[in-house]
Amino acid sequence: MNSVNRRDFVKTGAAAATAAGFAGCMTAGAGNAKLAFLGGTPIVSKAEAANYKKLFHWPIVNDAMRKANDRVLCAGTMSGWDIADEFEKKFAAWNGTKYASSAPNGTASLIAAFYAVGLGPGDELICPSITYWASCLGAIHLGATVVFADVDPETLTLDPKSFEAHITPRTKAVVPVHVYGQPCDMDPIMAIARKHGIKVVEDVSHAQGGLYKGRKLGTIGDCGAMSLMSSKSFAIGEGGMLVTDDREIYRRVVRWGQYERIRRDFTKEELVRTNNLPFGGVKNRLNQCSAAIGIEQLKKYDAECEVISKAMEYYHDGIKDVKGITKIYPKWENSNKAGWYYSRSLYNPEAFDGVSAETFAKALNCELSQSKYGAGCNFPLHTSNIFDDADIFGNGISPAKRFLPAGVTPKGLTGRLPVAESILPRVIGDPMFKLFEKEHIDRYIEAVHKVAANTGALRDWEKKNLVKS
Ligand SMILES: Cc1ncc(COP(=O)(O)O)c(C=O)c1O
Repeated sequence: MNSVNRRDFVKTGAAAATAAGFAGCMTAGAGNAKLAFLGGTPIVSKAEAANYKKLFHWPIVNDAMRKANDRVLCAGTMSGWDIADEFEKKFAAWNGTKYASSAPNGTASLIAAFYAVGLGPGDELICPSITYWASCLGAIHLGATVVFADVDPETLTLDPKSFEAHITPRTKAVVPVHVYGQPCDMDPIMAIARKHGIKVVEDVSHAQGGLYKGRKLGTIGDCGAMSLMSSKSFAIGEGGMLVTDDREIYRRVVRWGQYERIRRDFTKEELVRTNNLPFGGVKNRLNQCSAAIGIEQLKKYDAECEVISKAMEYYHDGIKDVKGITKIYPKWENSNKAGWYYSRSLYNPEAFDGVSAETFAKALNCELSQSKYGAGCNFPLHTSNIFDDADIFGNGISPAKRFLPAGVTPKGLTGRLPVAESILPRVIGDPMFKLFEKEHIDRYIEAVHKVAANTGALRDWEKKNLVKS
């Protein structure tokens, strides 16, 4: 087995969630008690592993989705508006908002949302450091600066105290991200935002249909924006959606990039000087094949989420006796993780002889002959200089700094974020079951117990194979 340089290993772990493969498992030897990672017999053989694929396949495609897609293709209306309109109306009704506006992807929806709540040159947007870049990066092209706040070590979502600590007179908006399906603690976030006159754009990309204290995610802030790409829980291919009750926010979203609809939502007087040209200079039209698939997805999504929740709860119940792995789940009444997108658990290396999350995940993957576990989560965004001094246009001026007062730097506004900077080695990915099949999920539960009972051997392996820095 290749030895791994400890420094590289830690660097990789700190850079991003790592998919811990199972290719490095030693060849199976004698005895089931010995870890497959170290040459023992795996719980699931490579031959059996093929039967597990269906547990993870997503989205679940039915005939209605195929036919809906075909109808749009055959009618040649991929680029129209009528089906997108229908999808938006149905999505808004399902989500419990007055308006919904689709887009070609979640990134486009988020940028439109930032424009719509008034984010512009010289303004600051507060974003949690642990999320995907699209939660905030587009803001710098509106002339705004992204200021990062820390996350809660138990939920990985925006820490309200850190949010408040990063507010300046220029803060215009905050983007709480319901990351990995876990709802943010929206009550304190909303109270702080309202106190300071800050607009709230929820990023619902990981949590469509999720609930916070009985309220649908995306309906609590001023608006919600989200990705509907094919790996997401609500999957329509590439796609995005913005939901809001606020007519002015909706109209600004239209004005930004829904160019054919501008005449519908604006008066002649409002359009007289600009005709119907979009202020964003972008065309945020959703492919109608995706819209048609979305209409069908709406009919079965809630039922699918129930199955996913049952499977994920069963798995977590089965491993709750394993000290060192802690389920991340909302602690409030009437709250949930809906589709459990990219679900993560907390990992405590001290409970496992100091074994890293990466080695633990690899050992699990070897037991299951599948790469379903990974270590870590999204890397802390504030460590990227794109949000600070990257010269994007090659003119010597960083867009992130451009409109800030002299002497104020984005780094200075963000400061140190101790949780975001240290959390990755303390996070492990959950297998994302889409079907509830006890006899299969039991093997994952068995694998967690087997690996947890053999961390001494894993520790010895790490000592021998990882070069200490
Ligand atoms: C939290 C989050 N926000 C926004 C996006 C952007 O969505 P899209 O990829 O559809 O542009 C993604 C991911 O894909 C995401 O994970």
